[in-house]
Amino acid sequence: MEQPEEFGEGFDSFSTDAIHTGVDPMQWSHRAVVPPITLATTFQIAEPTRGARFYYSRGNNPNRSCLEECLAALEGAKSAYCFASGMAATMTATHLLTSGDNVLCSADVYGGVFRYFKYCAVKMGISTTFVDFLDLAKLEAALDCKPKMVWFEVVTNPTLKITDIEAVVAVVRKKVPDALICVDNTFLTPYLLRPLDLGVDIVMHSITKYMNGHSDVLMGSLATNDANIAQQIKFFQMALGAVPSPFDCFMVQRGLKTLAIRLREHCSNAKVVAEYLENHPLIDKVLYPGLASHSQYGLAKRILRDNGGMVSFYVKGSGEQTKTFLKNLKIISLGFSLGGYESLAELPCTMTHSMMTDEARDAIGITNTLVRLSVGLENPTDLSRDLDSALKTAIL
Ligand SMILES: Cc1ncc(COP(=O)(O)O)c(C=O)c1O
Repeated sequence: MEQPEEFGEGFDSFSTDAIHTGVDPMQWSHRAVVPPITLATTFQIAEPTRGARFYYSRGNNPNRSCLEECLAALEGAKSAYCFASGMAATMTATHLLTSGDNVLCSADVYGGVFRYFKYCAVKMGISTTFVDFLDLAKLEAALDCKPKMVWFEVVTNPTLKITDIEAVVAVVRKKVPDALICVDNTFLTPYLLRPLDLGVDIVMHSITKYMNGHSDVLMGSLATNDANIAQQIKFFQMALGAVPSPFDCFMVQRGLKTLAIRLREHCSNAKVVAEYLENHPLIDKVLYPGLASHSQYGLAKRILRDNGGMVSFYVKGSGEQTKTFLKNLKIISLGFSLGGYESLAELPCTMTHSMMTDEARDAIGITNTLVRLSVGLENPTDLSRDLDSALKTAIL
């Protein structure tokens, strides 16, 4: 869908794109307003040659194609590609490199991405250096390794620090102009930040999270404005074959239609819960970019549309009491993942970030009392009451 010129200022067509882009009923004969699910793995073609838009479902599928068009519009990208999971998207992006290349990755990155670069990519001869992207002097020095790819998250997981994306892009472009700059935008979604507008080359998502939003699909995506990068991603999407099913594409397209409205509610609920916890006597510290106490409150205000649905906090107690607290939550589930309509809590040190070394965890503030909360769409007062009751049961 074409954007009016004033997009981003007076007029914001995000929701319009989420609902209409990619699903024009004119593209199929019955004009259904909801895309039909095309399960066929192969398609009848007119000529015995390559080149048809749909020929074999690993190469392209109508449901995937509708979804990719919509994702590109939301991301402000020329093209987007879907994969079987966020990790499949990460792996496919890494195939843009060759043996002997270096990756410079933020030390404060999702544990699975850390594991992939440290233990899997290295087997293909691709080595990764992890560095604190909040320290621009350290980042600049680390660029001496001349990385082919730079990888980071703008809101880091689980300590919710904000990477100054514009400053990072400037430092990288100055020193290593041809490095591929990739941002994992899972925690924010394009509703809260569009990294391509700020000069990065590739945006990656674990669509599994907010983009789908219903905790029932595993998927990843890559989006770019660069035709050469897009061509390579498309090639590796087909050649590696880590693609999502047509049904999952249908489900995500359905989820995207409420992305803006869900995100607004996630953000407002998270703010209520963060403010409640900040004043709770059994909480040591709350990490939420929307609190004035957050060390990067000003930066968050400048670059984000709103502050997201994730809240992390340190329990005023022992590691054992923190575990007891988590097991006593009634509305909020103890579980992996984030970004669904339901609230989830987890203990990063023994769950999502358990594969990191003790030193790496210490360096970024992951202690045995740090809890990460994905604030869902329930009544935030009920969530606050649930947290209060579990804290009192565990500690008093
Ligand atoms: C920030 C981030 N990036 C990437 C991933 C990996 O995505 P997936 O689980 O869809 O493979 C996750 C999963 O939790 C994540 O939180």
